[in-house]
Amino acid sequence: MKAIILCAGKGTRLQPITFSIPKPVIPLANQPMIFHIIKKLVNLNITEIGLIVGYKQEIIREVVGNGSQLGAKIEYIVQNEQKGLAHAVKMAQAFVGSEPFLVFLGDNIFEDDLTNLIKRYKIEKPNSIIMLKEVDDPKRFGIAIIENDRLLKVIEKPKEPPSNLAIIGVYIFDKTVFSAIDKLKPSWRGEYEITDAIQGLIDTNLIVKQEILQGKWLDTGKPKEILEANQFLLKKFKGWYIYGNLDENSEIENSIYIGKNSKIENSKIIGPVVIGEDCIVTNSHLFPNTCIESNSKINNANIENSIVMKKCDISNVKGKISDSIIGENVVISNIKNSCKLLLKSDDELMGE
Ligand code: G1P
Repeated sequence: MKAIILCAGKGTRLQPITFSIPKPVIPLANQPMIFHIIKKLVNLNITEIGLIVGYKQEIIREVVGNGSQLGAKIEYIVQNEQKGLAHAVKMAQAFVGSEPFLVFLGDNIFEDDLTNLIKRYKIEKPNSIIMLKEVDDPKRFGIAIIENDRLLKVIEKPKEPPSNLAIIGVYIFDKTVFSAIDKLKPSWRGEYEITDAIQGLIDTNLIVKQEILQGKWLDTGKPKEILEANQFLLKKFKGWYIYGNLDENSEIENSIYIGKNSKIENSKIIGPVVIGEDCIVTNSHLFPNTCIESNSKINNANIENSIVMKKCDISNVKGKISDSIIGENVVISNIKNSCKLLLKSDDELMGE
């Protein structure tokens, strides 16, 4: 089975971060978000993957390449206009041919292994299976109505949600979805909705089944959710992996990763913390759920629950930087107070 990952969107809820990099390459536990998704597919033996790209696609192509570093074979499919998820799926018709295929939204991080979903699809051979999860805020999602274990109806972001079962953005379709997409009209938000295409399948008596996700699911649309997904992935990592240098005046606690050629001097690190390669951390405190990407320098600063991307230079922060997402090549210095930051790449934040 082939898979497609939809990652053409602008990630507007993550601006200003997404002004400089597209959402799929935002690092979670120091790896681009899209790598976590591709690895999940490769673990299922799904290696032929089409990436639907558009916004800042050159960065995605540079980071993911042909996928061989992850054991995948990536093909790029360009969606120049963002006309909705159904339109994006339609763009992949030539890539998937007439075989059933898996669709992943590019901003889904979840716990469950999908082996059983694929097995079930192969045994039952419905026209589609969609994955659902109970949520607290159903107005934000496509919602499903189920009666006696039968999927009766799906509605995209209803004002009065009839259930709290959200469509999470993992779907298996066969080729019938393409004719359902061809019949669609744009929704109130001007997009061709994949939820409407699924309703089209139901209305023409094709078989659409549902599978409820058991474990945790994170839709990483907003900064808070990015930090939650980072925390969730860090929880899984246990132990000390010290490939760099830690001097005798430094202390570490809990799970820590320190990449090659990184130097930690006179600092305290309380994990889970991940530090990439070629970083220098001096006279600083790093608190849980902090990730520092390669080639960054941290001097005389305190950082907690934050993502610091490549080549940053952070110095002399008297308070604490917490719950922050800091883009690549950002310079921060001489900050007196504690702060919560969202900075795009190349920003400068200088106090007196
Ligand atoms: C999309 C889908 C929606 C689904 C959601 C999951 O919404 O249209 O049905 O519940 O993803 O994240 P969007 O992220 O485009 O608002």
